[in-house]
Amino acid sequence: MNLRALLTDRFARAFARVTGSDAAPLVQPSGKPEFGDYQANGAMAAAKALTGDAKRSPRQIAEQIVAEVQVEDLVDRLEVAGPGFINIHLKPAFLAGALKTPPVEPVRSPQRVVVDYSSPNLAKEMHVGHLRSTIIGDALARILAALGHTVIRQNHVGDWGTQFGMLLAYLEETGEGSEELKDLEDFYRAAKQRFDEDATFAERARAKVVALQAGEADTRALWHRFIQISLSHCQATYDRLGVTLTLADVMAESAYNDDLPAVIAALEARGLLTVSEGARCVFLDEFKGKDGKPLPLIVQKSDGGYLYATTDLAAVRYRARQLEADRSLYLTDARQALHFRQVFAVAREAGFAGNGLSLEHQPFGNMLGSDGKPFKTRDGGVVKLNDLLDEAVARAYNLVGEKNPELSEAERRDVADAVGVGAVKYADLSKNRTSDYVFDWDQMLSFDGNTAPYLQYAYSRIQSIFRRGNLDDAVLAGEIRLDREEERTLAVVLLRLQEVLEQSAREGYPHFLCSWLFELAAAFTRFYESCPILNEAEPVRSSRLALSWITAERLKLGLDLLGIRTVPRM
Ligand code: ARG
Repeated sequence: MNLRALLTDRFARAFARVTGSDAAPLVQPSGKPEFGDYQANGAMAAAKALTGDAKRSPRQIAEQIVAEVQVEDLVDRLEVAGPGFINIHLKPAFLAGALKTPPVEPVRSPQRVVVDYSSPNLAKEMHVGHLRSTIIGDALARILAALGHTVIRQNHVGDWGTQFGMLLAYLEETGEGSEELKDLEDFYRAAKQRFDEDATFAERARAKVVALQAGEADTRALWHRFIQISLSHCQATYDRLGVTLTLADVMAESAYNDDLPAVIAALEARGLLTVSEGARCVFLDEFKGKDGKPLPLIVQKSDGGYLYATTDLAAVRYRARQLEADRSLYLTDARQALHFRQVFAVAREAGFAGNGLSLEHQPFGNMLGSDGKPFKTRDGGVVKLNDLLDEAVARAYNLVGEKNPELSEAERRDVADAVGVGAVKYADLSKNRTSDYVFDWDQMLSFDGNTAPYLQYAYSRIQSIFRRGNLDDAVLAGEIRLDREEERTLAVVLLRLQEVLEQSAREGYPHFLCSWLFELAAAFTRFYESCPILNEAEPVRSSRLALSWITAERLKLGLDLLGIRTVPRM
């Protein structure tokens, strides 16, 4: 249940009757318990808008809304505070009943949403530069799906372009048994070295590009093999990361090749093309360079070659027409912002986005090292994602051993995997994606603060309560009592999940969900510290067990929507 939407709806009606305006009041969770569970604002703005005889003070308006609003079923008490805020105190009986409804419900108008994420270039091994797109995109895909949207994952991998000529020439030379293929970074480096040092090799590499583009069968087959090997590397990383992408989600750049001449023709037909220095370009008035000169989107080079942007235009068309998407989300770093603004604008002009496709670039900042510079290895190289995860799990393995020496070796390894991978993911997901963040092992692996280990530990601690007290169906089906303030607060936080998910999905920000998880764990801790559970007499004992169970289930669900595992003991 989306409590915030429910309250907004009720208050909007009263608001309209009192002020004659259909501007919805802002209902949001209160910052402090003394201001109630939620707060409705809007009386101040409404007072400003009223004129003449209708003029009233914000407090008067707020009082009239309080008299008018129909919320007896939800609310214990309303009070007007300060210059005209309305504090909303929810009814414990309502909260208790609401806790029995499903934690997440499908939204009323589900959409078809493309999530374009991860999308590495297949010439190289996945490195930390791919982490953010992969995990933020996956969290959003999971959240959207949980809300009942049809999610279409698109892994727009780069599998085309001149660097493949070099790789194919090298693959032909070394054969598929090559040790270097186990690590595409090594393979790329070796191929590059051959290219730089041997002119005949370089010549062969260039010939491969031509043959590939001409569709020559042997070269195509070789290319296909290379792409398969590279994709299987990616898949192994996705599986380790707990990312839901599969091979079926791959819609590579090359898949649009046949469509590119048609894209150019469509732009031509719309009168959008201009030839500039031999290249075909689209100039739109809204894009100007720093010097004030018009900034083109180049769609075909003078040698006839197509570009990254051309493929993206074809992809927009495909997503609108074939996939019939309502939204298309693009997860890349902020450096591609201009590219997407141009592509989206040109796609609109050309009618590629149909009537209704909303195109949304959801950019993110950089992952920085402790020196504040982009994250690199000690010797300045790129950090491979696999190496990063190895280190995370190794560090977690040590921590977990210190924290609980009683775990069996197998369990310790399993917990280390959940905590290590979870810590890396959560550290990233919990930050507002638009800013840069500093990658800090100690912070992300800490059992205190807004971290994965803290939340995973909170979950396992609740599980230990259930191991000591028997939790049967009768307990879970029984009445929940919210007599203590800590119980009520916990219930209110629990019930905010739906609104938090809807907001995350709408705006593309998984960190809202992280903040909620952290608040939930904190609310549970306060409850746990002041409300005895197992030693309490019935019916309170059962009620508190049930409340703990609901908390654990929602912690698990929330982490699951971020692609982070929980473990029963740690
Ligand atoms: N392969 C691109 C890169 O590594 C990202 C692709 C993002 N998706 C898109 N439709 N352009 O930068």
